[in-house]
Amino acid sequence: MLFPAISSRATVEFALLSWAVQSALGATFENLCRHLEQNLRIENATINLVQYVPSESTLLFPDNDISCNRSSQIVAADICRIALFVGTSPSSGVQLEAWLPRNWTGRFLSTGNGGLSGCIQYEDMNYGTSLGFATVGTNNGHNGTSGQAFLNNPNVIKDYSYGSVHTGAVIGKTITNAFYGRNFTKSYYIGCSTGGRQGFQSAQMFPSDFDGIVAGSPTLDFTHLTAWAGWLGIVTGYNTNDSGFVSPALWKTIHQEILKQCDSLDGAVDGIIENPDLCYPNLDILRCNRRLTHNCLNSEQLRRASGVFEPFTYSNGSLIFPRMQPGSELESSDTFYSGLPSPYVYAVHGNPAWSALNLTLADVTFAQQLNPFGINTWNGDLSSFNASGGKLLHYHGLQDYLISSENSARYYNLVRETMSRTHVELDNFYRYFRVSGMGHCRHGPGAWMIGQSTIGRTGIDPKKKGSAPETIRGLKYRDDDPKAEILLTRRHCRYPYQNRYTGPQPLSDDESWTCML
Ligand SMILES: *[C@@H]1O[C@H](CO)[C@@H](O)[C@H](O)[C@H]1NC(C)=O
Ligand SMILES: *[C@@H]1O[C@H](CO)[C@@H](O)[C@H](O)[C@H]1NC(C)=O
Ligand SMILES: *[C@@H]1O[C@H](CO)[C@@H](O)[C@H](O)[C@H]1NC(C)=O
Ligand SMILES: *[C@@H]1O[C@H](CO)[C@@H](O)[C@H](O)[C@H]1NC(C)=O
Ligand SMILES: *[C@@H]1O[C@H](CO)[C@@H](O)[C@H](O)[C@H]1NC(C)=O
Ligand SMILES: *[C@@H]1O[C@H](CO)[C@@H](O)[C@H](O)[C@H]1NC(C)=O
Ligand SMILES: *[C@@H]1O[C@H](CO)[C@@H](O)[C@H](O)[C@H]1NC(C)=O
Ligand SMILES: *[C@@H]1O[C@H](CO)[C@@H](O)[C@H](O)[C@H]1NC(C)=O
Ligand SMILES: *[C@@H]1O[C@H](CO)[C@@H](O)[C@H](O)[C@H]1NC(C)=O
Repeated sequence: MLFPAISSRATVEFALLSWAVQSALGATFENLCRHLEQNLRIENATINLVQYVPSESTLLFPDNDISCNRSSQIVAADICRIALFVGTSPSSGVQLEAWLPRNWTGRFLSTGNGGLSGCIQYEDMNYGTSLGFATVGTNNGHNGTSGQAFLNNPNVIKDYSYGSVHTGAVIGKTITNAFYGRNFTKSYYIGCSTGGRQGFQSAQMFPSDFDGIVAGSPTLDFTHLTAWAGWLGIVTGYNTNDSGFVSPALWKTIHQEILKQCDSLDGAVDGIIENPDLCYPNLDILRCNRRLTHNCLNSEQLRRASGVFEPFTYSNGSLIFPRMQPGSELESSDTFYSGLPSPYVYAVHGNPAWSALNLTLADVTFAQQLNPFGINTWNGDLSSFNASGGKLLHYHGLQDYLISSENSARYYNLVRETMSRTHVELDNFYRYFRVSGMGHCRHGPGAWMIGQSTIGRTGIDPKKKGSAPETIRGLKYRDDDPKAEILLTRRHCRYPYQNRYTGPQPLSDDESWTCML
């Protein structure tokens, strides 16, 4: 009877003590936050807000551009939030936020943007702080998702190309060190799409900004990529009533035919193509004839559908952009093949009336030569990044319907050739993972949750801490609902390895697959 009494008293005392320590810490943290502004001296910056945010609060962003579609964010961790504007030239600047978690691990994280935006990705900042990173995000030098701010303001394009992430990193680190009163230990970057490009731009231009970069589905070779997006519209046509137009229903038929021809090349028929590089579909099988009169393609439809799987080239035959990888047709039929002009064609002519409908090879050459502020992000020499100890983790979904994943392999090979290294040597600091069955940055029929973002966080694999990943393990839940059953796990291979089903476990089990050359 004695022991339990003592022990329960001890428990109560410990609980009281712990509460006291916690609230003292709490007071300190809130106090620190309140005084953050006084402790900061940042040139060209205007601090708009400093705020202590307890965990589970909902932040509202009433001033955020409506096109960003981010009016609120639930915050998982206790944070100190600071928002500021930093001038980058007399005619440009970035909106920047730093979120500083109470549970700081000593690590610093920068987050990227998407598309043409213009939007702080608050969900990524929340992801970072929930994992104990002091996290910054910027608006990429302009507000909202349209490219309007670029018009006649080169400084805004400069921030979009490289200035914004770099400014965020420099100032974010200053804020972090000042707030905690000690230096961060390691700095990281995470982003996808435009955010992926921003990660590569950092490695190329500011090699010591980050110790580790996670860059997904990057918009590399930017002017060529945007030209390709416009060209896909020309290939598939803008008149949806035209007899040559391929409807979404027909793209579904084409997708099924592609799976029929290519799904088994990896040893398993599971609706997921592990290596689209091996897939050269013959769509002529779908040509309408006397026996095949439904769900078939006429000659013009065949020409257009096959056209997207051809590389885009200049008239002298040199490559502009690789073909669309087979497998992404269902989603592409709603985007680039939908009969609407691409919204991503970059306005290099400084003429808002110009549209992708009018794209010619002369425009492509013009944009390529202009390459404003190095936006192409196509330097294959990452030796300074490696020399400063940087590590680069690159991924791309193999069902990406906005950016052909072949472009990622193309960049990887550019680095290999530029640096005269084998893939084994590049493994030291740069690994590119091909994520089968993943669309653009997320979603898809494959095991796409790899820990890349809040939405993919259940794929996070803490076993990998401290060592370079051989593979990246992904998860797929029923309906992408982490509370539902796991349908599939798969270890995605680093390029140039490819996944093959080697059994004997079920297809859905990652142990059944082997990465091979
Ligand atoms: C951009 O948005 C921020 C709020 O997110 C606002 O404070 C700022 O005034 C906006 N800038 C412009 C140029 O509209
Ligand atoms: C806005 O965001 C919500 C939630 O993320 C999403 O369901 C919706 O489709 C988005 N709307 C637009 C117009 O992008
Ligand atoms: C801090 O981290 C600990 C353990 O990592 C966790 O249990 C706790 O909920 C976190 N607290 C806050 C306020 O984020
Ligand atoms: C501050 O802005 C001025 C004017 O744009 C610029 O000359 C100066 O270099 C900026 N300072 C920093 C630290 O960026
Ligand atoms: C933090 O880093 C700076 C240089 O980046 C250095 O001058 C300073 O001494 C460091 N402070 C501590 C406490 O290590
Ligand atoms: C297609 O036909 C419909 C109805 O016949 C018409 O309303 C629409 O404008 C046409 N679209 C094009 C692109 O010609
Ligand atoms: C082909 O033409 C493009 C665009 O004019 C040019 O940049 C490229 O160097 C040419 N390639 C060859 C092999 O001549
Ligand atoms: C684009 O092309 C269309 C015809 O296809 C033409 O009517 C229009 O004037 C062109 N627009 C520009 C800005 O060149
Ligand atoms: C990267 O840097 C390390 C250390 O400086 C060096 O040993 C290695 O050869 C470099 N790797 C490549 C691929 O250049």
